[in-house]
Amino acid sequence: MKKKNLIGFMLAALLGVVFGVESCEQKAEKTIVPGAVWNDTDGNPINAHGGGLLYHEGVYYWYGEYKQGETVLPSWATWECYRTDVTGVSCYSSTDLVNWTFRGIVLPAVKDDPDHDLHPSKVLERPKVIYNKHTGKFVMWAHVESADYSKACAGVAVSDSPTGIFSYLGSFRPNDAMSRDQTLFVDDDGLAYHFYSSENNETLYISQLTDDYLRPSGHYTRNFIKESREAPAVFKHEGKYYLLTSGCTGWDPNQAELAVADSIMGPWTTIGNPCTGDDASNTFHAQSTYVQPVVGKPNCYIAMFDRWNKTDLADSRYVWLPMSFVDGKITIPWQAEWSLPK
Ligand code: GAL
Repeated sequence: MKKKNLIGFMLAALLGVVFGVESCEQKAEKTIVPGAVWNDTDGNPINAHGGGLLYHEGVYYWYGEYKQGETVLPSWATWECYRTDVTGVSCYSSTDLVNWTFRGIVLPAVKDDPDHDLHPSKVLERPKVIYNKHTGKFVMWAHVESADYSKACAGVAVSDSPTGIFSYLGSFRPNDAMSRDQTLFVDDDGLAYHFYSSENNETLYISQLTDDYLRPSGHYTRNFIKESREAPAVFKHEGKYYLLTSGCTGWDPNQAELAVADSIMGPWTTIGNPCTGDDASNTFHAQSTYVQPVVGKPNCYIAMFDRWNKTDLADSRYVWLPMSFVDGKITIPWQAEWSLPK
């Protein structure tokens, strides 16, 4: 290449890089559109329902129910227990909470043993993963069910890596009580807690876990007695604990409720419905699953909900909204489209 051409080529390349970066930056400012189909970085719809996030070493991991195939209502059903076959728990990773890369099925179904908790004929819901600093293990708890929802157990799995594969340790009724909708929370002191709907979903149990996070410690409280709260999502803000829940109407949406406590084991005080704006009375046609603080951004918390499509569960969508903290009042205002602060 002649010297003149070479200079021209380098100039064009430089301009291309500069303009490329600019448009990339604009593209990188991806907005969050609640209820739309969200694609992963391969262009496939994100499939991680009833999920939760884990922040570990600069990366967010999103775990959820991988719902695939036909939604069925069993012929014996006396209520709307629509289900899909169990495929497993999926994992996606992201550094910015908007671009998500599929990391695989980290707890797969067990197809060859009809008696196994993870057999496709069963139900596997609301997986959550926490990291234990002392053991170096990633610990998953999930709602493990029979197809008729009579088992009401918690299943536990463990992995050395956030992207699995998780080894399944088995299921049980924590504190000898039914366990359905559930979540986990690790406090600043490293103690972990399991929140679960119990006693036929009428009462919410808060159970401190053992130091390895694999079992209940035996220390637990019964909360919201006979109030039928489900879909628990916990967060801590300015030293207080907050709990977001739904009512108990199966796959159909209902009104959310926020509660506050000075101690994680309770007593809890109900504040009311934090949702505001269009369709706030039915949680924007969705149900809570998790609240994620945005690391490094004070007062920036994402409330995560599932918008279930009960007759086509695989096509259920995600409704994520930023929480608002104004004059000590916490709300979740509806927004059709929003973006995270830089
Ligand atoms: C909901 C629960 C979901 C699923 C569904 C089954 O109340 O939050 O996770 O279990 O019932 O009908």
